[in-house]
Amino acid sequence: MQVAIDGPASAGKSTVAKIVAKNLNYIYIDTGAMYRACTLIARDGNVDYSDEKAILNLIDQSTIEFKNEGNEQKVYVNGKDASIAIRTPEITENVSQVSALKGVRQKMVNLQREMAGKNNVIMDGRDIGTTVLPDAQVKIFLIASVASRARRRFLDFKEKGIHQDIADIEHDIEVRDYKDSHRAISPLKKADDAIELDTTNLNIDQVVQEITALIEKNK
Ligand code: C5P
Repeated sequence: MQVAIDGPASAGKSTVAKIVAKNLNYIYIDTGAMYRACTLIARDGNVDYSDEKAILNLIDQSTIEFKNEGNEQKVYVNGKDASIAIRTPEITENVSQVSALKGVRQKMVNLQREMAGKNNVIMDGRDIGTTVLPDAQVKIFLIASVASRARRRFLDFKEKGIHQDIADIEHDIEVRDYKDSHRAISPLKKADDAIELDTTNLNIDQVVQEITALIEKNK
């Protein structure tokens, strides 16, 4: 069983994907974390975010791994826990530029398909239903209003002790969605056969239930 969950930034994809994967004992793959890791590798290597050749070279010399620790999925870059480092505003601001590079996408998509293998997987991202797993049995396109996505992100940050103006968060979300939807290679787009789920007025439990029901129906 392959489940693809795509959608714009901060729509709650990873939150619900993690819960559904745990409930069903499926493997969860956070593809956004992989592009964030590539961006961190570029930053730490002091190369320009547009320098595709240099970035690809650095990625070839690096390792990106997911490790499950307790209830959390950690991202390790070159053997070091980078779970927090890949979510800083600097990485978030630049990830769309790095993820638009053809060679970077090729590498990540190959890795993602390899990771999916023959396992039961839930993969979230922007191009899973359109490109990475076009034959996925369940494809979901998760959307929510910008205001509600910003509010959720604001509360998320607050819980972590980070203060960011809600208007700034809204702006960042819109800019990132625009870049992700307008790039040349596999832009953020609903697959023709994906089911659109608007979570603006739904809580996490309700979204989990909807997705679980769709999976059960397609088993
Ligand atoms: O999901 P998350 O917000 O962590 O993704 C970070 C960025 O990675 C996205 O804004 C997008 O630029 C890129 N991405 C992508 N394709 C995916 C997943 C993420 O281009 N499948």
